[in-house]
Parts: sequence; C-alpha cells; structure tokens
Amino acid sequence: MEAILRILKAAADPNRLRILRVLCAGPFNVAELTEILAVGQSTVSRHLRLLSEAGLVDVRRAGTWAYYSLRVTDGEGGAREADVLPDELLSLLRGRWDEEGPDARAVERVLRQRREATSVFFGKAAEGWDRRRDRALGPPRHVDRLLELVGDGETVVDLGTGTGVLLERLGPAFGRVIGIDASPEMLEIARGRAEESELARTELRLGQLEHLPLSDGEADTMVANLVLHHVADPPAVFREIRRGLSHGGRLVIADLEEHDDESFWKSLGARWPGFRPEDVREWLLAAGFESVRTERLPTENGGPRPAVWLVAAARSSGNGTIHQPRRNG
Ligand SMILES: C[S@@+](CC[C@H](N)C(=O)[O-])C[C@H]1O[C@@H](n2cnc3c(N)ncnc32)[C@H](O)[C@@H]1O
Repeated sequence: MEAILRILKAAADPNRLRILRVLCAGPFNVAELTEILAVGQSTVSRHLRLLSEAGLVDVRRAGTWAYYSLRVTDGEGGAREADVLPDELLSLLRGRWDEEGPDARAVERVLRQRREATSVFFGKAAEGWDRRRDRALGPPRHVDRLLELVGDGETVVDLGTGTGVLLERLGPAFGRVIGIDASPEMLEIARGRAEESELARTELRLGQLEHLPLSDGEADTMVANLVLHHVADPPAVFREIRRGLSHGGRLVIADLEEHDDESFWKSLGARWPGFRPEDVREWLLAAGFESVRTERLPTENGGPRPAVWLVAAARSSGNGTIHQPRRNG
C-alpha cells in the first residue's frame, strides 16, 4: 500500500505525468525534455528530481551526459520490482497519448535532430572510418562469437552496415544479405567493398533503422554490430526490427558496455555511452522479443576499452518455434 501511495503522489502533477509519458518513448536529457515540454529547465529538473526520489525514473550520468529513463527494472537486470512504475500506470499513460499532440510532435522533432546529428557525423567520418574505429576499439575480436550466434538462414540484414565489414562474413551462411545504413557516404564505401569482393546476393539499402526499408517479415535474421550506441531511439528501433523479422526470426546485437570515457565516445560520434545489456533486454522484451540471452565478453588484456556484450533474441512466433543458430565446429 505504501508503495502505491508513493507512486501516485509522485505522479500526481500534470507536468510529471507528461514527463513519464514522454519517457515511455525512451531516454531523454534535461535539455531535450525542456524543449519537448516547453517549460523552464528548472521546472523540469525539479520534477525529475521528485520522480527520481520516488524511484520512478533512473538517471544515468556519464561525463556531461545525464539521461533520464523510466525505472522498470531493479537495476541489476532482475525481475520487475513491485514498487517501480506499474504496468497499469504505463498503459494508462500510453492510452491517453495524443499522437498528433504537441508533446508527441516535440518528441519526434528531438529524435529527428538526433538522427540528423548522426548522419552529419558519419557523412564527414566515412572516409577513414575503419582506421578510426580500429584505433579506438582495437581489433574486433567479438565478431567471431557474434557470427556464431547469428548462425545461418535465408535472409540476413546487417543493420547500420557502415563500411560493410560484416557483409563478406555473413555471405557464406545466408542465401541473401541486405546491408542497411542511413549514411550515403558510408554505404558508398560498403558498395565499393562489396564490388571488390564480388559479393553475390548482397544488396545495400539506404534507410533509417527506425523506418527500415524492408517489408514485413522480410528477414529471418538481423544483426546490429556496434550500432545501437549511435541510434537516436533504441526502443523504436527494436519495434521496427520486430516488424521486419519473420516469426521466430533472430536478432543478434553486439555493443559496448556503459562507460564514462567521454573523449572516446565523442571520437566515435556515439549518442550513448554504451548500455547495460540488462536495459537492452528490457527494451527487447517490451518490443515483443523472447528468449533474450545476454553475454558479457571480457575487455582484452584488461585494457581500458569498454567491454563488448552480445545479446541474442527471437521474435515471438506465436507457435513457439525459434530459428536455431548454426552450431560451429
Ligand atoms: C559504427 S558504424 C558501423 C558499424 C558496422 N555495423 C560495423 O560492423 O562496422 C555505425 C553505422 O550505423 C549507422 N547508423 C547510425 N544510426 C542509424 C540509424 N538510425 N539508421 C540507420 N543507420 C544508422 C551510421 O550511419 C554508421 O554507418
């Protein structure tokens, strides 16, 4: 009873309800929330503090970043706690959201600004990207394990294919490989690489991960290697990936552990300072995935680089069939 009272008290304010509803769309920082709600920054900060004290929102600080998100897990990746935001309140907020209203339009505007900033970054960084990435991250040793989890199948989509480094490795295990990226400059390099290696059955498509250039259920497997930390709206991307996957289709993600080396993520144009795989797991479950498995890989030689994690999940099929990964060796 006490927990319910605390939650209702914390939520009982029009601006705090708006904040909670906006955060259903994903994490936002104070400046973005100020723009979305069109109220003063000090008002937004005060409401965020109250929501955070009541345990309804989480704040992630890393360097100068402070992103707020709904608190839906116990923070350790465990089951939902009884006293975090209840599903009933979330469905009420979602049900009362005017998709055409000023808050919804402002959320869309902020997300568009994020996507544009990423596009501009990769437009400039495309030439020389592979060298820049290898200098920052070292040799991508996780890729063998990633491919093991990806397995084989008919159609695989490489999400945020960038310069196309995975295309060649995906080719032998799949009938068709589709690389998707929002940056024409990065795709141009991927195209050159595909032509040079004479990759057959490989297509490159320009598009946003939030609106995939794929028909419903077109792919049986999707892979996102070191892309998620660039994406403006990870929960929306997961919903869209689900749409593009066939029933029982598989998604495998590799990304960076949350870290606080600001110069590192700025040099790579990252939007997020990595993620905790347990948060990614929550987003996937909310987007309609099941059998979500996470793996943390050790940092090479205990070095300073952020560790890489892998998450594999299956689109719920309705009949319980899950596309099985190929077993190597
Ligand atoms: C780190 S790079 C390439 C990673 C690539 N998967 C690899 O294995 O090397 C990230 C790529 O994601 C693309 N990207 C970022 N956000 C995107 C979005 N919302 N939609 C489509 N592509 C996006 C960028 O244009 C960039 O080419």
